[in-house]
Amino acid sequence: MTKTLFQYRELFPTLKEKIQLSSCSQSALALPVIDAMEEYKESLIQGGMDWELWMDKVNESKQRFASLINADVDEIAIMSSVSECISSVLSSFPVNHGKNKIITTELDFPCIGHAMQTNNKSLGVTVNYIPSNKDYTISLDDYDKYLDTKTLLTSISHVSYYNGWKQNVKEIAALAHAKGSYLFVDAYQSIGNINIDVKDMNVDFLAAGAQKFMLGIPGIAFLYVKKELASKLTPKVTGWFSQADPFSFDVKRNNYSSYASRFDTGTPPVINAYVASAAMKLLLDIGVKEIQMYLEDLSDFTMKYAKSHGFHVMSPQNSTEKGANTALYFEEAPLIEKLMKEKGIIVSARKDVIRIAPHLYNTKEDIRQAIDALNSLSL
Ligand SMILES: Cc1ncc(COP(=O)(O)O)c(C=O)c1O
Repeated sequence: MTKTLFQYRELFPTLKEKIQLSSCSQSALALPVIDAMEEYKESLIQGGMDWELWMDKVNESKQRFASLINADVDEIAIMSSVSECISSVLSSFPVNHGKNKIITTELDFPCIGHAMQTNNKSLGVTVNYIPSNKDYTISLDDYDKYLDTKTLLTSISHVSYYNGWKQNVKEIAALAHAKGSYLFVDAYQSIGNINIDVKDMNVDFLAAGAQKFMLGIPGIAFLYVKKELASKLTPKVTGWFSQADPFSFDVKRNNYSSYASRFDTGTPPVINAYVASAAMKLLLDIGVKEIQMYLEDLSDFTMKYAKSHGFHVMSPQNSTEKGANTALYFEEAPLIEKLMKEKGIIVSARKDVIRIAPHLYNTKEDIRQAIDALNSLSL
């Protein structure tokens, strides 16, 4: 572990008692993040009501998310979840879009498919799923085969929630745009552990929540909408914060903001914004590039150590082709998660895998102990 990162380990109280390797689901909370919850509580107790301060915090969280992905603050909307982000985007296209299909993949998180199946009739499109290969990857050729000039929107996961496989967003964006399709990127499993640059990747929409590698808690997600796109879209779930001036209080006039904030709805989740903002400050102070480099090293170690114990690694074998999550096959993964928790080791089950998802505060020793414990359980 680098000296810089080692200093930060001290900030995570849970690590004194437990080994937490669950950042693909919930990361450990840092003291400044816990303090941010207190700060909100104090604003209620001491100030009673302080809209100006709260809205400043909400805007600060938008600004920090924008900095994390190299966007402008007016390209960011606040939602409660990634499910809400994709649903809102799908609801926002004009009726006469002239396309007949939308595309997602078998590797996307299910909420993407669910939102597509809910919105396809009103959009007048069919939902097409690109199948995954046996090794849980999809080739660029497959994207090329499925995409055509009648594709309205293509949705991909930057990093798979299941096995951590990382896609080449820039190349997929180029393919999608060549066929006239917009690209939606679900970055929930990459934000905070992989450097993201929406301008360089040239994506149209990107969504991520705060709970996983972003070091925050559930209840808030951020939606990036490319600047030149926002004013062409009309989200069908809306509220007063979507307005050019939410504080004009004109009940008869629906005057959407020209920016991504037209996707905002009602009063934002203020405490979540406090928390997310503090969490993102930590990530920005350390630098996601440094975190990514460290986590690639931990990935290599995890895969090597797991294989040496005979585990079936379900993730790509090369750490540069994956996020921080490494998936090991377990027929009864949910039971194994519970048994590990009893040992004070927090890992995360999905379907038939146990996900070992370290963050900047974990060490190789944490991983060694987790794999040794998994080994003792599987005997
Ligand atoms: C990649 C990915 N996308 C979306 C979700 C669901 O996000 P939300 O609960 O915010 O809708 C998850 C949750 O685990 C996820 O891993």
